Amino acid sequence: MSVRRLAEVQPADFEFTQDNLQWAEGQIAKYPEGRQASAVIPLLWKAQEQHDGWLPEPAIRRVAEMLGMPVIRVMEVATFYTMFNLKPVGEHFVQLCGTTPCALRGAERLKDVCRKIIGEQNHVTADGKLSWLEVECLGACANAPMVQINFDYYEDLDPASFETLLEDLRAGRAVTTGSQTGRSCSAPLGGDTSLTDESLYDGSVVGGWKSRFSEEPAPAEAAQQDSAAKPKEGARPEAKAAGDSKDADAVGKTTPAGATPSDKGA
Ligand code: FES
Repeated sequence: MSVRRLAEVQPADFEFTQDNLQWAEGQIAKYPEGRQASAVIPLLWKAQEQHDGWLPEPAIRRVAEMLGMPVIRVMEVATFYTMFNLKPVGEHFVQLCGTTPCALRGAERLKDVCRKIIGEQNHVTADGKLSWLEVECLGACANAPMVQINFDYYEDLDPASFETLLEDLRAGRAVTTGSQTGRSCSAPLGGDTSLTDESLYDGSVVGGWKSRFSEEPAPAEAAQQDSAAKPKEGARPEAKAAGDSKDADAVGKTTPAGATPSDKGA
């Protein structure tokens, strides 16, 4: 559990930029009259984004004013959710997942790297480039251990690749987001183990099935055509024969079991 207090040094005031103000008003307008407080999290989030990744006290007051809420209610939201940073963060803000799957896959060693390159949690490096915080599961457990830096995920880390990543970010070099081992998304580390039959993904096979279904009549339709072509079961061919002696031989061929063409003369 972290202690969450406002930063000791605060800016004198806070105003949304014109674009952000317009955006905030759009968010507020989504809610019915009397329910504007529902926009508190999006507005705080936008204020944090505008203010270099942390939320100053004047921004909390401004949001309360815009939403007609007591300041303490907005303060409660800002101090409860760890997504809101109450103190300055580095230009590259590292959120390091320390929950069980990441811990089992080496998150502790990544924390050692943070301490070595950056310092303790919430400390901003002298150049203002880096700071870090341990957080709970970020939902990328299949690619553990992982960190989020600003808005990007970096996964499948080990101490060496993580150290390189931090140094590259600090130096302004290009980095690769996602898996740092090159695996595709969350594919198994050792390659696919199931659904390995490539024909399952063969579009022409799928197309073949599709065309078969579209070209062949549906079972009910086929049965209807079939019954229209044949006399109904139980119909007496003799009745037709009586009415049309020319077809007598032909009718005899469809006579039910036990009745042969020779019977018709009997
Ligand atoms: S446990 Fe680290 S992303 Fe889920």
